[in-house]
Formats: sequence, structure tokens, C-alpha cells
Amino acid sequence: MKKKMMTKEQGSFFTKNQVLEVACTDMNVNGYGVARVDGFVIFTKGLLLHEIAKVKLVKVFKRYAYAIIEELLLLGKSRTTPICSVYPRCGGCNLMHMDYQHQLQFKQTSVQQQLDYHHVKHVKVNQTLGMTNPFAYRNKVICPVRVINSKLEIGFYRQHSHDIVVFDTCHVQSNLQNKIIESIKAFQHVPLFEIVKHIVLREVYEPSQIMLGLVTNQTSHPHLQEFLKVMINNHPEIKSIILNHNPHKTNTIFTSDNYVLYGKDHLIDHSLGLSFKLSLQSFFQVNTEMMQVLYQEALQAADIQPTDTVLDLYCGIGTLALLASQQAKYVYGVELNPKAIADANDNAQNNKIENVKFIQGDVKEAMSYFETNDIECDVVIVDPPRAGLHEDIISSLKQLKAKRIIYVSCNPTTLGRDLKLFESHYKIENVQPVDMFPQTY
Ligand SMILES: C[S@@+](CC[C@H](N)C(=O)[O-])C[C@H]1O[C@@H](n2cnc3c(N)ncnc32)[C@H](O)[C@@H]1O
Repeated sequence: MKKKMMTKEQGSFFTKNQVLEVACTDMNVNGYGVARVDGFVIFTKGLLLHEIAKVKLVKVFKRYAYAIIEELLLLGKSRTTPICSVYPRCGGCNLMHMDYQHQLQFKQTSVQQQLDYHHVKHVKVNQTLGMTNPFAYRNKVICPVRVINSKLEIGFYRQHSHDIVVFDTCHVQSNLQNKIIESIKAFQHVPLFEIVKHIVLREVYEPSQIMLGLVTNQTSHPHLQEFLKVMINNHPEIKSIILNHNPHKTNTIFTSDNYVLYGKDHLIDHSLGLSFKLSLQSFFQVNTEMMQVLYQEALQAADIQPTDTVLDLYCGIGTLALLASQQAKYVYGVELNPKAIADANDNAQNNKIENVKFIQGDVKEAMSYFETNDIECDVVIVDPPRAGLHEDIISSLKQLKAKRIIYVSCNPTTLGRDLKLFESHYKIENVQPVDMFPQTY
């Protein structure tokens, strides 16, 4: 059935495939241009602030619709020409048509809008800290792989689809990562890739070292040994090759079933004076340069004193906890993933850090552990996934009465919601965006 929507005010209709002229007056948090027609809101992919365009409605709801650009009639001053030839099709980046200074401004505004939307009081968000060169920053890449009609496809998924967009050069990847992918594509025995579902590259720097991961649905193939030989000979930077066996037909990329095909099962990153062990599946911020900026900002805001006990919730492989331990009396790190906790303990040992304890478990349960054991914390660092903090955790944190809470967030929407809940017990002092993902949001 064809959808027809009518606004009360004007009695006008909005229907799927309708083309209309709009002026972009705002951007939403997902980087879509926002326009209003008779109170009806239209979100258009690729449309920038102050631009005018003919757009086609592709999804129509009661009060709003999603649209695509049919024709740009007036270009905004933030528009730039993307350096990537597959940008319009690839689902990897989505802000490359906006120049970098405007990307930083857009991210600052997005955070401010979310805080305002949630009525967080009197907070002026700082300017976003960005990169001098906002390209070639990713230290980890996961590319889906497919063989279709004996032709190998390695690339990224098109947005909202499982079609693979093949690239020659990905500009947010390093030169070395691009060269290795080029070599993989040039391997002569294409049937090998019929068992490969994803190629993973992980890179640490100074000097550059690479882990190559092959996520496969079988553990062996007649051409596998030759492939390893070619890759190791062509790229001495490859220090580790891991096969991850995932025969399941699900969207989950990895299983825990790893086979080391070459070198070690991990790489060592050296950041901010410490070393961090990275396995194939370890969570590690994908932008090493900005990760260091982020952590320095977090630690500066934490203002940890030598007598302080610090709690690092959602600690991953212990990066922030270990950095904090250099200033604190004692640090507790809490993390759900047992493998990450094992890495965190190894990291503590390798860095000869003893004033830290890593607890494996759900943060919710760990909070009652702290309560029942009367553990008093002076500073709390939280770095939750995109869903943010559960209300119960916020209530427990308020009971804990820490002097300061540092909230590291990857989602302005849940950040705004959660800060509002903290407001009854805490004054929000400083909100500092850090651009971890240039060219995307
Ligand atoms: C955004 S990452 C932060 C990691 C770390 N702070 C860093 O900068 O590398 C979030 C972490 O929270 C963990 N996590 C997710 N849900 C959790 C829960 N309910 N309890 C404890 N940890 C959880 C994930 O495994 C992941 O390592």
C-alpha cells in the first residue's frame, strides 16, 4: 500500500518517491541534513548545512521522512570533494564530503545538541580536538571477502547491505595496510578465498608491525601455506598471522577459535610510556594517535592524587586503568570479556604494575562487590559501550560518592541521557569531544 502522510497545519501530502525542494537548516547526530517543510522533518543523507537541494523521499513516517539528494541546487561552504573514489557507495566513511574543520565543528555541535535535548544544565561543550592529518589513522581494518564467478572481492559493505564495495586505496587506512590488501588481491590462487570470510589487519607503530587475521569457515586449504609464504616474503612487517575458525552463518565476525599460523598470537603497542598486548579480538581504540589524546584528557580531568583509589569501569585490556595506576594508590578495573581481562593482567605484569586489580564480570555485579566490601573510591572512570550506563549503575555510582567521575563516551545521545541523571549529585564541569573517527561520525 502506498503511504500518504498529511500534516495537520497545511493539509499537504508527503509520499514515498515524492521529490521536493528543501533548505538544510540543521544536521542530525548521524550527519544527515535536516530540513523542515510545514513542520514535517526531512532527513537527507549527504545534505549539508545551508544547502538547498531537490530531494526524493525514500522512507515516510508520520512526522518525518528520510530522503536522498536528487539535485544539489546550492552548495554549502562546508562541502568538499571526497578524495575517495568509492565514497558515495562505500558504507565505511560518511562525512568525507564535509571539510575537516566543519567535521570538528559538527561533532562539537552534535554533543551540545544532545546535552541540550536532555536538558543538561549550563554546559558549554569545548571545541573538538582533531588530527593534523585526518587520514590514514586506522590501526585496525576488517574487510569482508567474497569470491563471485571466480573473481575475488575484498572491500567494505555498502551501507545497510552485504554487497561488497571494492576499493583500490582506503584513505583512512595506512599505506602499509593498503599495500598488504593489494598483495592479498594479487594472490594467484583465488579458490583459497572461498574459505575466507573476513581479512583483518592490525597495526602497531614505530616500527610498523602487522597482524594479519583470516576469518575462515575451514581450518585448512591446499593453497594456504603458499599464501602465507608469499605474504611473509612480500611484507616483512607482518609479525603474526592468525586463523580464526568461524563456520557459523551469523553476523558475529569472530569465534574464540584461533590458530597461530605464523609468529606470535599478539602484537605489542607502545603508547604513553606503557606497553599493551593486542590479540586478534582485543578491543583497542582504532585511532592510536587520538587514543593518546583521549587518555591524556581523561587523566588530566581525573586529577588523580597519590592517595586516591580509582575505579575503571568497562576497562577493556586495562589501558586507562594502567595509566591511572601510575598516579593513584590503587586501581580496580572491571570488564566483562574474560579474554580482555587476561590481556589486562598480562599488561599489568609486563609493565611491572602491582597496584591494580582486574575484576572479570558485569559492571552491575561489580558495583555490589564494591558496596559489600566497603571499597571507597575517589575517582571513577567509565567507558561504556554505545548503550551507555544502566540507571542502576548510575544510582550505585551516586552511592559510591567518588570525588570525580570521568565519563568517556562514544555516543553523544546516551551521554546526554546519563549526564542528566548524574546532575542531582554531580556538577558537570567539562565536556571535551575528541575526534576518534575523522571522515565518519
Ligand atoms: C568502549 S570499550 C572501552 C574499553 C577501554 N576503556 C579502552 O579504552 O580500550 C567498552 C568495554 O566494555 C566492555 N563491556 C561491555 N558491557 C559490559 C558490562 N556489562 N560489564 C563490564 N564490561 C562490559 C566491553 O567488553 C568493552 O571492552
